Amino acid sequence: MAFERPRGVRDFDPQKMAARAAIEDCLRTEFESHSYRRIGTPTFEYLELFEAKSGGDIRDHLYVFEDKSGRRLCLRPEATASVARMFANELSVAPKPLRMYYVCPMFRYEKPQKGRYREFWQAGVELMGAGGHLADAEAISLASRCLKRLGIEHDLRISHIGIIRRLLEDEGIKERAQDDLIQAIDKGDKAGIEEKVGHTGIPELLSIQGGFETLEAASSLFPKVGMEDELRRFEQTLSLLDSSGVEFSIDFGMARGLDYYTGVIFDAKVGGLGAQDQVLGGGRYDNLIKAFGGPQTPAVGFAFGIDRLVQAMEQANQQSKSSTLDAIVIPCSDDASSYAFMTASKLRRLIPDSRIELEICGRRLKAALSLAAAKAARYAVIVGRKEIAADEVTLRDMDSKVQKTMSISLAAEKITS
Ligand code: HAM
Repeated sequence: MAFERPRGVRDFDPQKMAARAAIEDCLRTEFESHSYRRIGTPTFEYLELFEAKSGGDIRDHLYVFEDKSGRRLCLRPEATASVARMFANELSVAPKPLRMYYVCPMFRYEKPQKGRYREFWQAGVELMGAGGHLADAEAISLASRCLKRLGIEHDLRISHIGIIRRLLEDEGIKERAQDDLIQAIDKGDKAGIEEKVGHTGIPELLSIQGGFETLEAASSLFPKVGMEDELRRFEQTLSLLDSSGVEFSIDFGMARGLDYYTGVIFDAKVGGLGAQDQVLGGGRYDNLIKAFGGPQTPAVGFAFGIDRLVQAMEQANQQSKSSTLDAIVIPCSDDASSYAFMTASKLRRLIPDSRIELEICGRRLKAALSLAAAKAARYAVIVGRKEIAADEVTLRDMDSKVQKTMSISLAAEKITS
């Protein structure tokens, strides 16, 4: 009987997995170079964690289930809420700020399509305990550096949800209705926006787009009182990004569908990916940790959608090659298999980061060499009775087909060079 995969989930063969791993490695290296350290949170949480502050878009797409004791649980749709919960429970007394990152699968019960899956992977960072413009600029420039390192052309857009919410509040729009309007902005629902706030200055602000210089034009539309610190921080963040060469545009028509953001928000889109072109989303969320019972703690973060980064890399033809097979160790007879096993272990020990494979299917030499060629192995390491007696191996260069008998350590040196 054949079994089908559930809708919206995928298998990854070794080649696909290698492309994904290369992207993850690249992101991890960049995160760690900024002193972010990896964390892990559970795959499922109590439902309330995501019902509280995630926003309608996520709430409508949760994978909810009941365990045998009747508890309402849910597969995580994102990690920020979990990291905020972990911080509130365990990390609030740790020295600040905390720089953390995660690379893990998320689950959203969405309509599957290109770039949108029910199980997908995110690589994200959360910077907790720092509220100034340096923290905002660090998060945004880290995101930009990751995309540059991957060689992905993108549009990085920055907005400020605090400004938008404050203007809505000044119009007497209550928090719940604000959330709905922000969802409408996020979805580009012009009619919905016009209907609710068409008579105010908000549509004018939402239409503002452009480089750093547009900030001045926009500032006449900003709230006039009570947000001086917030506006200064926004300007300092953008100025720092601009002078450090980060390419971005200000776009007040961009809102993010998550309810917990309070300040700067940003995303990155990649042309040619179709409807699901957003590869990154993030922002500042200063009230989430407190909402989860922790102390008032400022925080900012973002997450990449790894599946969409893979598509962007494929599109740019920057598919990372799967790592080369350095050598395949071939026992020429049954009684050479233990020696071959030990040779392979020794080579792996002697050559760090190498990829050494052992022939374990009892193929004859000729068939094993054809397999080595098909797998594009650089060398074949052949062992038979003669080699065992001399405690040596025969190293065959798969390109030149020249082979020579030598000690295992000399073979390791040749494979390394
Ligand atoms: P998000 O915008 O919901 O933000 O997701 C981040 C990224 O995950 C998106 O930009 C997209 O690339 C990817 N993504 C989302 N849904 C799917 C899907 N169904 N299939 C494939 N990829 C998807 C967050 O999750 C926030 N937690 C980000 C954050 C971290 N904000 C602050 N810290």
